[in-house]
Amino acid sequence: MSATVVVGLQFGDEGKGRIADFLAEDADLVVRFNGGGNAGHTVVVGDQTFTLHLVPCGILHPGVKCLIGGGTAVDPRLFLEELEELHKLGVDTSQLAVDGNANVIMPYHRELEQYEEVQRGKNNAIGTTKRGIGPCYAARTARNGMLMSDFCNEVGRTDRISTAHDLLPLGMGTHMPLERLLDDARRIAGELQGQVHIVDGRRVIWEALDNGGEILFEGAQGTFLDINQGTYPFVTSSHPIAGGACLSGIGPRNIDRVVGVSKAYTTRVGNGPLPSRMGSELEAYMREFCGEYGATTGRPRDCGWLDIPMLRTAVRINGVTGLALTKIDGLDGLDTVQIVTCYELDGKKIDYVPSDTSQLIRCKPVYVELPGWRSTRSARRWDDLPLNAQHYIEFIMEHLPGNIGLDMVSVGPERNDIIDLR
Ligand code: IMP
Repeated sequence: MSATVVVGLQFGDEGKGRIADFLAEDADLVVRFNGGGNAGHTVVVGDQTFTLHLVPCGILHPGVKCLIGGGTAVDPRLFLEELEELHKLGVDTSQLAVDGNANVIMPYHRELEQYEEVQRGKNNAIGTTKRGIGPCYAARTARNGMLMSDFCNEVGRTDRISTAHDLLPLGMGTHMPLERLLDDARRIAGELQGQVHIVDGRRVIWEALDNGGEILFEGAQGTFLDINQGTYPFVTSSHPIAGGACLSGIGPRNIDRVVGVSKAYTTRVGNGPLPSRMGSELEAYMREFCGEYGATTGRPRDCGWLDIPMLRTAVRINGVTGLALTKIDGLDGLDTVQIVTCYELDGKKIDYVPSDTSQLIRCKPVYVELPGWRSTRSARRWDDLPLNAQHYIEFIMEHLPGNIGLDMVSVGPERNDIIDLR
């Protein structure tokens, strides 16, 4: 029996999908534990590219069970579309189940989010993916949420929608008549139940644990988008950190390994601080060379150098046991590469991310410059990597706290473009 959590150590888009896909090969059960259709996990298998939003990457491995856990937010309409896309690509989804405890994103959550983003104004907008994530989780916390078990039950669904409708801001309720909401939800719930099992997710996990199974918990987004540990308020509304896996119904002692995934550089999409930004010319180059556009929204990502204070902080927050470094090939061909080794904050050097976002905004990154390399693309073993790329990775590892190992280095988008060092 063993449980592994895959988490992003930056702002999402670290390549967790391809790492989870790689690890899913040996798993019996893969559980997606947070977020919703705001995520986009890209997995390239041969000449086929799969972009998964909510469905765990394990679905691409026949025979592996998959669960959308209780900490997620499911938009049933988008979810059905995702299933349809997967079926078109020949993927069998019969092994997929959804936890009845998962949160359901309703049309009014999406509407509320549009409204809130406009009201925040240009300077304070979060730059969300507009998938209704924030209002859905807020409703859960306020105890007005819709759970999947309610959504799939006529009485529960009617009850939850009626209460939520009563609570909508003036005007929004008339714009979204109750009858229409109820009819649409009834139709979609019927379709959903025809396609996927709604289960008691934590029992599925306990059973797998009791049977000695390998469980993989797949996170979405990244540590600095966590609602509690991220760069608040420029965060998502769920828990992308390793602790978030426990919301699926297990305790921290059940987790054996935490694989922290980091790009070899940093990217961010949406608003909020990114201290190590490369500058417009290099960022434009990175976007084109490395395809740094959002997998869900297509928005251009901001690009920065690798930020060690950020990794150090994320390693501690998540209790990382091993690092998976992705997209090292994204730095191929540069004469020199830079790394942020610490920040200067109010005249003092610090080697962590302050939890107060206004302090992080004042932090000035301190860089070290290292020599670049030509190409890592064909490397499949450590020794195949150019020496300067090896030094770059060694430099990172030397600066991380604890005794964490280097688990994997990915050198390209395809499933097998990876150096497995475990
Ligand atoms: P929300 O999750 O749609 O509420 O968006 C909140 C913030 O998280 C915004 O800055 C989004 O751009 C960012 N975000 C949400 N999901 C992802 C993701 O999967 N990758 C990268 N950024 C994301």
